[in-house]
Amino acid sequence: MSKILITSALPYVNNVPHLGNIIGCVLSADVYARYCRSKGYECLYVCGTDEYGTATEIKAIEEGLSPAQICDKYHKIHKEIYEWFGISFDIFGRTSTAIHSEITQQIFLSLHKNGSIVEDSVEQFYDESAKLFLADRYIEGICPYCNYDGARGDQCDKCGKLLSPTDLKNPISKVSKTTPVLRKTNHLFINLPQTESELAVWIEKTSKEGNWSQNTTKIAQSWLKEGLKKRSITRDLKWGLKVPLTGYEGKVFYVWFDAPIGYISITANLTDKWKDWWMGKDVKLYQFMGKDNVPFHTVIFPSTLIGTKEPWNLVHHISTTEFLNYENGKFSKS
Ligand code: 2FM
Ligand code: ZN
Repeated sequence: MSKILITSALPYVNNVPHLGNIIGCVLSADVYARYCRSKGYECLYVCGTDEYGTATEIKAIEEGLSPAQICDKYHKIHKEIYEWFGISFDIFGRTSTAIHSEITQQIFLSLHKNGSIVEDSVEQFYDESAKLFLADRYIEGICPYCNYDGARGDQCDKCGKLLSPTDLKNPISKVSKTTPVLRKTNHLFINLPQTESELAVWIEKTSKEGNWSQNTTKIAQSWLKEGLKKRSITRDLKWGLKVPLTGYEGKVFYVWFDAPIGYISITANLTDKWKDWWMGKDVKLYQFMGKDNVPFHTVIFPSTLIGTKEPWNLVHHISTTEFLNYENGKFSKS
């Protein structure tokens, strides 16, 4: 009988958990984990806080603490809230562990060895007043597709399109409310086109075998239809994982590169047998998440694992939840 590995999306550590986290993935995964246990299946349910990146750095500035202190403070809050709800995680871990850096760097080095990492220089928005390169979602502007005036640099919440900050009309820094300027900087990219055909075969097969919802399959297929492009996996930040490559000493991995690897490293922090779960045969991986996380779990993370040419277990079933709405709009996190 298959072993069942269950994950719910790792919440960003820089805030207290909100209803969207609980409804979006934790509650449904918890119910499924309880069901599996009641049936006597060997199962593991892992989750934890997603700790790196600009969001944490900015919260640290706001609260006059270091990013590490912010993570310690908010990880504890998350853990206690989920305990209060009685969520039955086998582990609620975090991404700022030594094992997490080790596994992330190894995955990166495998990709690099296989020629899946390319270098390019890009122009990126820089906030001259806050003196930092801005993460995509810290830039706001007008969506080029639907004209929504509040689209983020990574995604428009109105029409759902994934965006690049330079797509936005009238971009404004959310940190200082000033207009950011474009600056040149070097970054590393994962060469998604290299594994695209393998990914397409896998999506076709797994979306049926794993009974993905129509919506999930559509999102994954729309990425394939547009054709995959290389995606940058490094950032000019301090609070992140070091990139083990000469010339990249001052940069860190983009949080969306290391965060899904958190599922693996959190498992490794629970058990020495983590490879049985992540590489062993007869394991079915069930991942629960909000709708906005779907491209990362159906396209980008599977491509990363495929690119290593190592026998990682990829997701079998994806459970996604629509945005939590209240009356006519998105439910406010606050
Ligand atoms: O959207 C979010 O809240 C992200 N922190 C989810 C990450 S899921 C996984 F990849 F870690
Ligand atoms: Zn839009």
